[in-house]
Amino acid sequence: MATGSESETTTSRRRPRVALREVTPNDAALLETWQSSEFDELGPRDEELLAARVPSFRLLVVRNDDEPVGYVTWRRVRYGPNRESRAWNIGVSIIPSARGQGYGTEAQRLLAVHLFATTDVNRVEAATDVANLAKQRALEKAGFMREGILRGAQFRAGSWHDLVYFSLLRKETLRRGP
Ligand SMILES: CC(C)(COP(=O)(O)OP(=O)(O)OC[C@H]1O[C@@H](n2cnc3c(N)ncnc32)[C@H](O)[C@@H]1OP(=O)(O)O)[C@@H](O)C(=O)NCCC(=O)NCCS
Repeated sequence: MATGSESETTTSRRRPRVALREVTPNDAALLETWQSSEFDELGPRDEELLAARVPSFRLLVVRNDDEPVGYVTWRRVRYGPNRESRAWNIGVSIIPSARGQGYGTEAQRLLAVHLFATTDVNRVEAATDVANLAKQRALEKAGFMREGILRGAQFRAGSWHDLVYFSLLRKETLRRGP
């Protein structure tokens, strides 16, 4: 799967500068490099979560010249027991040398549009630390709406952190268009 064609998705009417593509076995070494250098303050994962095998999905963010510059992830969240109450929670990571050029914004927008196109959810959401202003700005530029604060929700680097939630609804993606 690759998504990012001009007619499909972009944050503006100009040509997209990044696309999303599947991870292939050839990307293993690159991903390992990224992971070992990545800042991970979350500590060991909860065994209950690992045992539940909650699937999370990932696509690479690649520039027009095919250079990978990061990845997007998504996982299922639920707000009720029925199918209609399912949503996607997305994440993004852009390598330090490629930040500040609009790629994070575009990648999140591409992923949201892809998820609306390929699944029947009504809501795509994202959360980040209240201190992560770059992520918040990138979400806003991608069309997400700021919803509110979850106080003391995430334990990281030795203390509890407030998270800010953003979302994009299906009808908002349609209204905004390519
Ligand atoms: C957050 C992240 C994905 C953003 O990607 P990016 O490609 O740099 O984002 P963009 O260039 O599309 O947009 C970033 C915006 O944030 C702004 N910004 C950057 N640092 C900022 C800061 N400290 N304070 C306020 N705004 C800031 C930029 O100016 C830009 O806005 P502008 O276009 O209006 O000037 C990227 O920085 C990243 O991967 N960070 C590390 C991982 C991470 O935090 N992931 C999210 C975890 S929830």
